[in-house]
Amino acid sequence: MQTSAEDEPHSPGQRADKGRGAVLVTGGAGYIGSHILKAVEESGRPAVAFDDLSHGFLEACAWGELVQGDVRDTAALISAIERHDAVAVIHMAGLIEVGRSTVRPDLFWDQNVQGTASVLAAMRATAARRLVFSSSAAVYGHDPRGRWSDLLTEESPKDPASPYGDTKLAAERMIAASCAAFGLSAIALRYFNAAGADSSGRLGEAHHPETHLIPLTIQAALGQRGPLTVFGNDFDTPDGTCLRDYIHVADLAGAHVAALDAALEPGEFDAVNVGTGRGRSVFEVIEAVERALDRPVPRTIGARRAGDPPSLVADPSRAAARLGWRPRSSSLDEIVASAARWHAEPLYGDEGSGTPARPSARRA
Ligand SMILES: NC(=O)c1ccc[n+]([C@@H]2O[C@H](COP(=O)([O-])OP(=O)(O)OC[C@H]3O[C@@H](n4cnc5c(N)ncnc54)[C@H](O)[C@@H]3O)[C@@H](O)[C@H]2O)c1
Repeated sequence: MQTSAEDEPHSPGQRADKGRGAVLVTGGAGYIGSHILKAVEESGRPAVAFDDLSHGFLEACAWGELVQGDVRDTAALISAIERHDAVAVIHMAGLIEVGRSTVRPDLFWDQNVQGTASVLAAMRATAARRLVFSSSAAVYGHDPRGRWSDLLTEESPKDPASPYGDTKLAAERMIAASCAAFGLSAIALRYFNAAGADSSGRLGEAHHPETHLIPLTIQAALGQRGPLTVFGNDFDTPDGTCLRDYIHVADLAGAHVAALDAALEPGEFDAVNVGTGRGRSVFEVIEAVERALDRPVPRTIGARRAGDPPSLVADPSRAAARLGWRPRSSSLDEIVASAARWHAEPLYGDEGSGTPARPSARRA
């Protein structure tokens, strides 16, 4: 895979500008976190990943330092914030598999909610005052009277369909109350479907197990796994399959930098959708993968999954107004092409190679 000089990771000593305070990125060794490390460093701020490597990769921290630790360990967080003079935290660490949350909700409340309480406690004890939180479209419920063409605004009803969504909503509410009580300022970014890979070829999606549509479709086409199962083709949507709002991970990373810069008063909390406003069906994703790879996607049609809404598409207007942020690289073809390049030659996390999270050789 080709890389350009500006895509080369730099050592901490080579940062262009150290004048802007450092940012601690919990979950920074994960898929989205690794891209955020790069975006934060490119904004002129030192980026420090704080990750226990339970689902992340040392190699994913190409654009930042790694502190290995568990977010529920408040003392370790305080030490990392103080040692690196971090003035802000991007909190992404947690469990993400919606299906697993229905069978082990206890783990999700512990990691996602208790983890957030720990981050807030560490911020109260240090000079870190700005929090950007990884929330999700999963906080919204499914309105049975809604139409597939409806967009979700930040005010849409909150009635999560999974324990995962419950934990994200609970964490948002805890953050809002803590801002008001303790003078922190925070933005919860409600991600829609993150997808794609960094242009450098050094970072990409690596989940164990993989549950997201775009990597599953590419891997099915490449013969890296069996046929793709399409969960339901009888929804009330134009082609009968579910509509989702895919956002390129580099655009998503940019939204975090915009949220670090957003004008917020002490005590203020806001929640902002990060999506494109355009829904894409499962069949459209399959067609885009077939175009990108010039080969068919083996697939079977399966039953609907419990709790899968027909459509989850963002109204992204608050992100434009509040953060001055708009997606730049999030056409479906751009997303799929970048993901296909990554999955053809992933640098780490290849499910077939049996190389999930590795121990850190670089503890800070
Ligand atoms: N992937 C998506 O489309 C999507 C959509 C909405 C929201 N989100 C949210 O974005 C965040 C990141 O998602 P991702 O796709 O990059 O997942 P990921 O699993 O790749 O990354 C999560 C990272 O958190 C780390 N982690 C987990 N528990 C930890 C703990 N207790 N202490 C320290 N580190 C811990 C893992 O090792 C991993 O590196 C999550 O909070 C997720 O809920 C993701």
